[in-house]
Amino acid sequence: MDKVRFGIVGLGKQGTFYTKLFQKGKSVLKGAELTAVCDVLEDRRKYAEENLKGVKVFSDYNEMFKSGLIDAVMIETPHYFHSEIAIAAFEAGLNVLCDKPAGVYTRQVEEMNKVAEEHPNQLFGMMFNQRTNPLYIKAKEIIESGELGNLKRIVWIITNWYRPKAYYAQGGWRGTWWGEGGGVLINQCPHQLDLFTWLAGLPVSVMATTSTVGRAINVENDVTAYCKFANGATGVFITSTHDAPGTNRLEITGDGGKIVIENGKLVFTKNEKMEPEFSETNTVFMGSPKTKKITYRGWGHYLQFKKYPPQHLGIIKNYTDVLLKKTDKFMAPGKEGIIGLTFSNAIHLSGWTNKEVKIPFDTAEYEAELEKRKEEEKIKSAK
Ligand SMILES: NC(=O)c1ccc[n+]([C@@H]2O[C@H](COP(=O)([O-])OP(=O)(O)OC[C@H]3O[C@@H](n4cnc5c(N)ncnc54)[C@H](O)[C@@H]3O)[C@@H](O)[C@H]2O)c1
Repeated sequence: MDKVRFGIVGLGKQGTFYTKLFQKGKSVLKGAELTAVCDVLEDRRKYAEENLKGVKVFSDYNEMFKSGLIDAVMIETPHYFHSEIAIAAFEAGLNVLCDKPAGVYTRQVEEMNKVAEEHPNQLFGMMFNQRTNPLYIKAKEIIESGELGNLKRIVWIITNWYRPKAYYAQGGWRGTWWGEGGGVLINQCPHQLDLFTWLAGLPVSVMATTSTVGRAINVENDVTAYCKFANGATGVFITSTHDAPGTNRLEITGDGGKIVIENGKLVFTKNEKMEPEFSETNTVFMGSPKTKKITYRGWGHYLQFKKYPPQHLGIIKNYTDVLLKKTDKFMAPGKEGIIGLTFSNAIHLSGWTNKEVKIPFDTAEYEAELEKRKEEEKIKSAK
């Protein structure tokens, strides 16, 4: 293969954005080409016919999959359909680049991952575009190099992805249990939940509150989760879409020091000695380890760190390069989508039941609780 021909399923806001990336990012996306799109809505197909020259338009994704016009599928429908469309694509012999979240509940995604494993020669990727951020890449490198030492604590406050009333007032599937299966956890935060677990691993338990504040929606827009890791480290994940002004601060502390990512820079305050060793050898009352500060700056300097452009363009380019065997560094493998989703579902379950949830949790209990909320929503909207 010397070119990857992409087809997009779902030509709403995000799918349309990608069609523009394929047009504008031609010089970057060498080796990638958009050849087909599919949407169930007539007006989206009309848009495609009028605006996407040379791109075949379908109303049924199975027809697009059988057409012979594409090698890879980008899935851009509401989340509940991600896994079933991915499964159909794998079974049609295609490669899959699925947008976040991998699905709404883990059983769906386990099924998708199983089918992906049965097709090992087809590439499965996730659109985790925040993984292209050089600051998170740098944090991962510091952790993997051992410089941060054993993890003690990870705290992420991500409250600056603000959504006003008008966002939810547009109706449709957003902000509903039936349409998306959650609020900020399933819509805005899959990126941070992916990065939280990418950097620190999957916690072993979580205790959380999930609530709805100041918006006429049924799903949560405010979350505080406290979690524990297997090595005894702890974590806190706080998110909301109603704080103004909000915060985006990630702090990771280990024996070797502290990483803080905020305001477009990463500051690594490195202990000269690992903290346990310092404590054992220090004789000064109230002494503390000597430190050195190392600062890395953000997006503008991405070329210094990695050859991939930021965000979605970077993920599509990396995915294409892996398919064309130009690199073996795959930034966002599809099978990893379930990790952040497991954390997300565990947070929901804890918030719903007001109890500590051990991971792995009872998926049947999770699904029963979700169904209960969908049912209540149906009754409420019928009134
Ligand atoms: N990675 C990111 O930064 C990012 C950003 C925004 C949205 N997303 C994800 O993209 C997905 C879509 O979000 P959106 O905002 O574009 O939603 P949207 O409602 O604007 O678009 C969804 C489109 O999918 C179409 N669709 C639904 N079922 C279909 C089917 N069976 N076959 C073909 N088309 C179908 C709908 O008609 C609609 O046009 C969501 O899962 C969302 O989480 C990702």
